[in-house]
Amino acid sequence: ISTKKQFKYVIIGGGVAAGYAAREFVKQGLKPGELAIISKEAVAPYERPTLSKAYLFPEGAARLPGFHVCVGSGGERLLPEWYVTKGIELILSTEIAEADLDMKILTSSTGRTFEFQTLIIATGSRVIRLTDFGVQGADAKNIFYLREISDADELVEAIGAKKKGKVVIVGGGYIGLEVGAAMRINQFDVTMVYPEPWCMPRLFTKGIATFYEAYFANKGIKIIKGTVAVAFDADTNGEVKAVKLQDGRVLQADIVVVGVGAKPLTELFKGQVDEEKGGFRTDGMLETNVPDVYAVGDVATFPLKLYNDMRRIEHVDHARKSAEQAVKAIRASEEGKSIEVYDYLPYFYSRAFDLSWKFYGDNVGDPLMFGDKNPASGKPKFGTAWIKNGKIVGVFLEGGTDEENKAIAIMARVQPPAEYLDQLKKEGYFIA
Ligand code: FDA
Ligand code: NAD
Repeated sequence: ISTKKQFKYVIIGGGVAAGYAAREFVKQGLKPGELAIISKEAVAPYERPTLSKAYLFPEGAARLPGFHVCVGSGGERLLPEWYVTKGIELILSTEIAEADLDMKILTSSTGRTFEFQTLIIATGSRVIRLTDFGVQGADAKNIFYLREISDADELVEAIGAKKKGKVVIVGGGYIGLEVGAAMRINQFDVTMVYPEPWCMPRLFTKGIATFYEAYFANKGIKIIKGTVAVAFDADTNGEVKAVKLQDGRVLQADIVVVGVGAKPLTELFKGQVDEEKGGFRTDGMLETNVPDVYAVGDVATFPLKLYNDMRRIEHVDHARKSAEQAVKAIRASEEGKSIEVYDYLPYFYSRAFDLSWKFYGDNVGDPLMFGDKNPASGKPKFGTAWIKNGKIVGVFLEGGTDEENKAIAIMARVQPPAEYLDQLKKEGYFIA
C-alpha cells in the first residue's frame, strides 16, 4: 500500500502561522483536498501566547478548545471540525524528518511521504536548552521549558505536585517575566535569575525595566541579576533540588523554569533554502529563493519595508500577518495578478499580573520616558518614545486604553517629528 499523499498546498508546522494561513486559504476560495497542514503537535493550531499566561492560572485557566486560532486577533475559533468541513487535512503528531525541495517531497519520521506543489514553511522556533551549553545537571527532573502545549501540561502538573513550593526562573526575557508572574499567582516562592543588568534588554530601556522589576519585587518576587545558573543538584529521585549560580550563591528549588531564548527551526531545509539573520530569506511576498516555497512566522527573514532592512521577528502578530500575506501572494501568482509587498509595522506586547504593555515600531535612537512610572501607584501608566533623526520611530505604552494603543501604532507608522510630543503635551494629551 502506498502511503504517498499529494496536495496542492502543504504547510509544514501547525502553529500560529499555519492556522492563520488556513483561514486565509479558505477566504481566497479553497477546494476540498487541496491543503494539508503537517504538525508534530497533537492538536490543531492554537494561540501559543496563552501558554505562558492564562494557561498557567490557578483558577479559570485557559484550556483547549478555548484558544484555538484565530481568537487571538478577535476572529472566529478554528476548531478541529472546521478543518474537516473545509476539506483541509490536518495531519497531527507527525514530524517531517526530511525534505527534498527539488522533488517537492516531504518525508515523516515514520516514513510517510507528502508531495506538494506549493510549500509554506511555518516550523517556528525551538527553545534553547541549558543542556545545549552543557550546564551541569541541567537534565534533572522538574526543569521545564515552554514552547508547546505538551510542555505547558508538564509544568501545570508540577505546579499541582509542588504546591506553593520554590521556583527558580532562569532568564529575564518574555518567558521569564510572564512565567515568573504566573508562578507567583500560583503562590510559589519565586526567584528570577538573569545575566543582564536589567530584564528584557532586547526591548526595555533601563527606565522601563526599573518599573517592572520594582513591580515584581512588590509582588514578592526576588530578582538576582548579573549572574547565571552554572549547575543543578538533584535528589535521589533525580528531581531538581538546588540551583548553583556563577556568583557562588545556591538557591533551593522544587521547580525550575528556563527561558533563555529560542532558535528558528531551519535545519530541515539547510542548504536548500537561502538564509539570512538565522531565518529563511524571503521577498516581500514571503517567497524564498526556491520557487513555490514560502516561509512565514518565526523562520522568515523578510524585507521590512518601513525600515528598508531585512528582519526576523519572533512574535505572534507577524506570524499571523506574514501567513496571510503568503497565502494572498500564492493565490495572486496563480491568477497572474500582483499584490502589494508585505509592509509590516513591528508590534510586540506582554501581560503579567495586572500589567499590560504594547510596543509599536523600532526601538532605536534616543528613548524619552513619560507618564506615571511609580510601581506602587494603583494604575501605573507610562510610556517611552524612541526618537531617531528628529522623528518618533517607536512607542512603548504600559496601561494604555484601546484608543491610546491605536494612537501609538499610528505614530510609529507615520513617524511624526519629535516636536509633536510637545504639541500633544500642550493639548493635554497623556502621551507627552
Ligand atoms: P509556532 O511555533 O507557533 O508553530 C510552529 C509549529 O511547527 C509547531 O506546531 C511545531 O510543532 C511545528 N513543527 C516544527 N518543526 C516541525 C517538523 N519538522 N514537522 C512537523 N511540524 C513541525 N508572541 C507575542 O507577540 N506575544 C506573546 O504574548 C507571546 N507569547 C508567547 C508565549 C510562549 C510560551 C511562546 C513559546 C511564544 C510566545 N510568543 C508570543 C511568540 C509567538 O508565539 C511566536 O512568534 C509564534 O507562535 C510563531 O508562529 P509560527 O507559526 O512561526 O511558529
Ligand atoms: P528572550 O529572547 O525573550 O529572552 C531570553 C533571555 O534569556 C535574555 O533576556 C536573558 O535574560 C536570558 N539569558 C540568556 N542566556 C542566559 C543564561 N545562560 N542564563 C540565564 N539567562 C539567560 O527568550 P524567551 O523569553 O526564552 O522567549 C522564547 C521565545 O518566545 C522568543 O521567541 C519570544 O519572543 C517568545 N515569547 C514572546 C512573548 C511575548 O511576545 N510576549 C512571550 C513569551 C515568549
